[in-house]
Amino acid sequence: MKSIWLDCDPGHDDATAILLSLHSLNVHLLGISTVHGNASAENTNNNAARCLYAFAAAEYIRVCPGASKPLLRPERHDPEIHGVDGLGGVEGLPPASSPEVRARLVANGESIPALEGMAKAVRMKWKGGMGRKLTIVSTGPMTNIALFVSVYPELVQCIEEFVFMGGGVGIGNRSASAEFNILCDPEAAQIVLDLPVKKTMIPLNVTHTAIVTHAIHSALLDPHAPLSPFGALPAPATHLRYMLSTLINFFTESYKSTFGFTDGPPLHDALTIAYVAAPELFTCRRFRVDVELSGTHTAGETVVDVWNYRACDDSWGRNGRNCMVAEKVDVSFTDSFHVERRY
Ligand code: BDR
Ligand code: CA
Repeated sequence: MKSIWLDCDPGHDDATAILLSLHSLNVHLLGISTVHGNASAENTNNNAARCLYAFAAAEYIRVCPGASKPLLRPERHDPEIHGVDGLGGVEGLPPASSPEVRARLVANGESIPALEGMAKAVRMKWKGGMGRKLTIVSTGPMTNIALFVSVYPELVQCIEEFVFMGGGVGIGNRSASAEFNILCDPEAAQIVLDLPVKKTMIPLNVTHTAIVTHAIHSALLDPHAPLSPFGALPAPATHLRYMLSTLINFFTESYKSTFGFTDGPPLHDALTIAYVAAPELFTCRRFRVDVELSGTHTAGETVVDVWNYRACDDSWGRNGRNCMVAEKVDVSFTDSFHVERRY
């Protein structure tokens, strides 16, 4: 069982990552922090709380608000893909202004900022060296994580691994060469990539192979079919099927109109949780990965050194082959992924 902290910017696919993390057998979600990205920091924080409420996990999982801007660059959001509030078109969630969501945000997180929430979780797990290390999963711009390791450098040694959805090997999506999460805060991503801790990158090349096809969407709506890849939710999950279906509808349209995806949308962020839960489904190779910070046309591109020009040693840090890069995922996992309801 891996204990994780999830830093996210919900976001349609972030919402599915939250749901999958609550239902995956090998994953124990300790808390969530939110960051600017798909929508404003206020919206992404509200959205995480709305999802947890709808997923019946709000009592157990803390949502800690994080950075509202990148380290150096101007803030950018993605209403074309996720709607103005980050979860455009999604029905079946309580509104952000509803008393239950407000009450939960105040009780569980508003007073605890992201960095503090992460530090508490890392220390709680590490128990002064007697415990275990925590895995940090990132499905948005990496501003919170870069700030966390800068404010609490002594806690870097207590982190098992960073798993992040971001980047691409030779492809981008929100510029000719850059993927959205990295493009939003390239300096933060480089800070994380330079840390002397194992990292695993789930790039666009892989997430674009995990598509919610029409067949998967139909199975989701069949009350007798198992909710693959979301697992067998109990009967009252009818509202969850409906909510997921509206989420997929909106995402399908975004991906069709913006990128011409006709088979369905990729659920990028859910793959980070799939990786933590079942790494054997992924083929990964270790490379030096850096972020282009100054290119005129390529700012935010992940530069993956497949021919080993830049790595000087075998460390995970500044001079080494610093990152496992996922190259393939076995998407038949959607039929066999074992999950159980845990909250
Ligand atoms: C990433 O950017 C956002 O649109 C998604 O939530 C995902 O994290 C894909 O490039
Ligand atoms: Ca995201």
